[in-house]
Amino acid sequence: MSELIFKGVHKRYGDNPYTIRDVNLHIEDGEFCVFVGPSGCGKSTLLRMVAGLEDITSGELQIDGKRVNEAAPSERGVSMVFQSYALYPHMTVYENMAFGLKVAKTNADTVDQKVRHAAKVLQLEPLLERLPKELSGGQRQRVAIGRAIVREPGIFLFDEPLSNLDAALRVKTRIEIARLHKDIGTASMIYVTHDQVEAMTLADKILLLNSGEAVQRDGSVAQCGAPLELYHFPVNKFVAGFIGSPKMNFIDAVLEQAEPEHATVQMGDKSIKVRINAVGQPKGTKLEIGIRPEHTVLVEQDGDNVVQGTVEFIEKLGEASYLYVSVKGAEDTVTVRQSGDTTYAVGNTVSIFLKPEVLHAFKQDDGRACARTIREDSVKDSLFLAGVSGSVLTNNFQTQN
Ligand SMILES: Nc1ncnc2c1ncn2[C@@H]1O[C@H](COP(=O)(O)OP(=O)(O)OP(=O)(O)O)[C@@H](O)[C@H]1O
Ligand SMILES: [Mg+2]
Repeated sequence: MSELIFKGVHKRYGDNPYTIRDVNLHIEDGEFCVFVGPSGCGKSTLLRMVAGLEDITSGELQIDGKRVNEAAPSERGVSMVFQSYALYPHMTVYENMAFGLKVAKTNADTVDQKVRHAAKVLQLEPLLERLPKELSGGQRQRVAIGRAIVREPGIFLFDEPLSNLDAALRVKTRIEIARLHKDIGTASMIYVTHDQVEAMTLADKILLLNSGEAVQRDGSVAQCGAPLELYHFPVNKFVAGFIGSPKMNFIDAVLEQAEPEHATVQMGDKSIKVRINAVGQPKGTKLEIGIRPEHTVLVEQDGDNVVQGTVEFIEKLGEASYLYVSVKGAEDTVTVRQSGDTTYAVGNTVSIFLKPEVLHAFKQDDGRACARTIREDSVKDSLFLAGVSGSVLTNNFQTQN
């Protein structure tokens, strides 16, 4: 059980630009925090700074109220699980899990008790006498997690622990990790991934990191909050595009008129109503309107808040189909989620209804979001109704006006 505070944490390798800039973050006792972001954005670096494997260039890291910048890894009460399981090949599962405790001169009865408890939690009991080479990838990963559990850390650190597993096993192990967090309730967890589905499903709190230029300009933190907060209220276009799969569509528009509860934008030759507050932005401000594939609705004919386009290609996944539609002014083809048995075909002209409540708007100059004026609780309630299904949130999204 541990609380973690990052205060203005920076990391710089030599004279290179900052890898991590100005991270301020509070991870509460027992919280599950996921670090997510594009490759090279510094997720592992930030995690290794918590573990004590990397120096902190400036700023302060506190664990349970105490500065730990200078503390040795062993003094921090953390256990780390790596992507490569790094098991000892000549030791059995039991010996692998017991090794760290034996080195720390824990008495034999306690070692046995802790190893058997971890084996039970991770369903490894039948495998205790096997060697790593006699295990599947998922079983090996569980042994690596078991080795962390026996040390009873206040904080678990996971660096992409599932990336060596196949798709089915990833899902299964992801659920096991979520269950583990519930079962051992008191431990805090930091979990690094570049997979936004893992981030959405596991996290109490997501820290989405910037990469490249944005780090130097705005600092490393793109947005930090509950998964659905990032999904419904992204602060900028980068966050909007990163969270959600398939990714949000963006269509060019120009601000026509702003009122406190909604705005009207010019999109091609259409006037589109958007539930945002753009008051204070001058008429003519260049915007990008965002809509998630699961929030698009196809209608029979042209009308208010409808744009038209041509189906360029179709992906059929069984449970859903994705139509890729060319629409004038769109950054890319617009992805439209439909049911698995859709009858639309390549070449069809389709009419996409842009429901004002599901639209996002971002300023073209700096990517910042205009405030949405839908009620936060109404979106959240509707999401519970919609349910989170696999990698996507289903499309029966409805808000109350
Ligand atoms: N020892 C080092 N010296 C110099 N640069 C480094 C060092 N270690 C990492 N970096 C750089 O720091 C940046 C962040 O690396 P890091 O491994 O933390 O990224 P990441 O977000 O974990 O990426 P990935 O998703 O690919 O694992 C990268 O640009 C990397 O090249
Ligand atoms: Mg990494």
